[in-house]
Amino acid sequence: MARLVIEGRRKLTGKVRIGGSKNSSVAIIPAALLGEGPSTLENVPAILDVKVFAQILKDLGALVSLNKNTMTVSPNGFTSHIAPYDLVRKLRASYYLMGVLLAKFGKAEVGLPGGCDIGPRPIDQHLKGFRALGADASVEGGVVRLYASKLVGAPVYLDIPSVGATINIMLAACMAEGTTLIENAAKEPHVVDLANCLNSMGARINGAGTDIIRIRGVKTLKGTCHSIIPDDIETATYMMAAVATGGDIEICGVITKHLEPVVAKLKEAGALIEQNGDFIKVVGPERPKPVNVKTLPYPGFPTDAQQPLTAVLTRARGVSVVQESMYDNRLGYVGELVKMGANIKVQGKTAVIEGAPRLVGSPVRATDLRAGASLVVAGLSAAGTTEIYGLEIIERGYESVVDKLKTLGACIERIED
Ligand code: EPZ
Repeated sequence: MARLVIEGRRKLTGKVRIGGSKNSSVAIIPAALLGEGPSTLENVPAILDVKVFAQILKDLGALVSLNKNTMTVSPNGFTSHIAPYDLVRKLRASYYLMGVLLAKFGKAEVGLPGGCDIGPRPIDQHLKGFRALGADASVEGGVVRLYASKLVGAPVYLDIPSVGATINIMLAACMAEGTTLIENAAKEPHVVDLANCLNSMGARINGAGTDIIRIRGVKTLKGTCHSIIPDDIETATYMMAAVATGGDIEICGVITKHLEPVVAKLKEAGALIEQNGDFIKVVGPERPKPVNVKTLPYPGFPTDAQQPLTAVLTRARGVSVVQESMYDNRLGYVGELVKMGANIKVQGKTAVIEGAPRLVGSPVRATDLRAGASLVVAGLSAAGTTEIYGLEIIERGYESVVDKLKTLGACIERIED
């Protein structure tokens, strides 16, 4: 087990480069199994989730090599339609294997991913899509079993613009017979990145990034070379760290378009933000202004940035209101911020945050990935020492987080217990 030790109250300054998107990588890595030949994926973040997925693909028989930020996936030897629970339990996003195995073999047996600390994670919309394509879908004994003698394109209207369901249905439909329409589709940047990657493999997908995605099935897909988009949530997290510490940082290698809701909200909080090409400069105020925010599907304010933003607002000059509309329990972590002196009241899925001049460093624990990010942001601005236990949870989604923060002037160490 490892923990972070942060000496707070240092303004972050300098430059940091953002890595590839975690949420795009965990969709595109399994998609590479659909190619007849090997695929090379560049700008893959060196994070635990990617390493775990690489191992899952190897255990499924694929040839995978991972060299820091470049992964090659050769589907030869990938012949089993079964992804057992003991394999997939380590990574929730392994549920994308449902769409891949169904597309590749016409059948799939995938262990159900668990819930997690942010709330139940149902897959009813995924199954709705598979059934629309003609698959039998059952869930029994913690295993999802899918079977289709033939996948036939069809219209699917999602009850909610689910990212996971949109991605899984796209994976299943790209080699179905005929055309599939996903309506009320998710529009997140990583949905678009996956569509672009599949099209480079020979798929015929239009409309990704809008409410309606059209997928014309093709017979086969070939290997490709694809570069993963930069991680918008990693970027948002460093932007929040700059605002929380009153710092002045430049973040390089970003796609500013993906950051519009975060930029708008942080400007409301008093940050000065300059964007140019692939970099974004953030200058934080002495103390942030209070803001109100409601998390929404893209292009609304991203739920994954809600937790680091809440940490920023604990120091605001007034009362802020944060509404978490995407998950039932994505405010459970605030108790750790309260340990640091934050004044936060939670009512259902709404947090009311009364800003205070300074938090006080304390021992705290990361309960999920973005809660961990929130505690890092809080520790960077707090007076004194903050110890964050559960660092391995943070390192699931943030590449070289200690080195990057040290580069920005943070006084931070990784301690192995
Ligand atoms: C993806 O999760 C991300 N994970 C999450 O990021 C992110 O918070 C979420 O999208 C929303 O942007 C990955 O991409 C690996 P959803 P996903 O399906 O696909 C409900 C992080 O920190 N729902 O859009 O699970 C669901 O319960 C992680 O990087 C159903 O009811 O999100 C949730 O309330 C955390 N039925 C809402 O929809 C379904 O069949 C949004 O879920 C599917 C989802």
